[in-house]
Amino acid sequence: MLDTIRQIAREAGAIVRAGYGRANVIEYKGEVDLVTEIDKRSEALVLQRLRAVWPDHAITAEESGRSGDHDYEWYVDPLDGTTNFAHGVPCFAISIAVAHQGALLAGVVYDPLRDELFAAEAGRGATLNDRPIHVSQQPELGHALLSTGFPTDVRTSPENNFREWELFYRRSQGVRRPGSAALDCCYVACGRFDGYWELKMKPYDIAAGVLIAQEAGALVTTATGAPYTLAVHPVVMANPTLHVQMLAVLAEAGGR
Ligand code: IPD
Ligand code: CA
Ligand code: CA
Repeated sequence: MLDTIRQIAREAGAIVRAGYGRANVIEYKGEVDLVTEIDKRSEALVLQRLRAVWPDHAITAEESGRSGDHDYEWYVDPLDGTTNFAHGVPCFAISIAVAHQGALLAGVVYDPLRDELFAAEAGRGATLNDRPIHVSQQPELGHALLSTGFPTDVRTSPENNFREWELFYRRSQGVRRPGSAALDCCYVACGRFDGYWELKMKPYDIAAGVLIAQEAGALVTTATGAPYTLAVHPVVMANPTLHVQMLAVLAEAGGR
């Protein structure tokens, strides 16, 4: 399965790379939520390829929603980091994962500009361009470099991550907001970031990234320490020693 997913992610990556830096048609899904023609073309390619191999499987994809009903379900974000892409900021990826009866089996996140392909299969470790990767062993929040993101309803929702951002910024070495949740997870997996949290994460954003981080040694939970599930909820990931310190900060920020 993983080889096929890799190949599909690379094909979608070629579409995204070719569209980068050109004037693509932009539509607004919400006040700050963008979609470009490249999101749609990338998604059409991924769905067509998946259906050609596994016609019966269910698929949840960002732009076209859920289709089918099957024990095997795919989670597809055809372009994670659309705002970056639309502004010419080189930080975005294609994310594809598959689960069986709610348990993640395999996932791939592909950064087409850096040609970095992160992949994982349940129980078989995580890789970056075929080399094994591992989370950092940083034990102290005060020395940890973290990443996060903000929800698309940030202008109106009280669950906006601002309190969390402030607390983490004061307690850690620094916090980044790169703009691609899928890459945030993978950067934790390979030790570039020590930890990552974000509220209201949708499964198509991070299903692949969650499995890649878990297989690289991260503990991945909700903000209250419950196991990650393929639903919309906050997510926090880091090595176990750092993870418990991040949970404490999230509890102080309001706990969800
Ligand atoms: C977004 C990015 C961003 C995260 C948002 C996501 P999109 O996905 O992953 O980093 O903070 O929550 O919606 O819209 O670029 O696919
Ligand atoms: Ca996304
Ligand atoms: Ca997207």
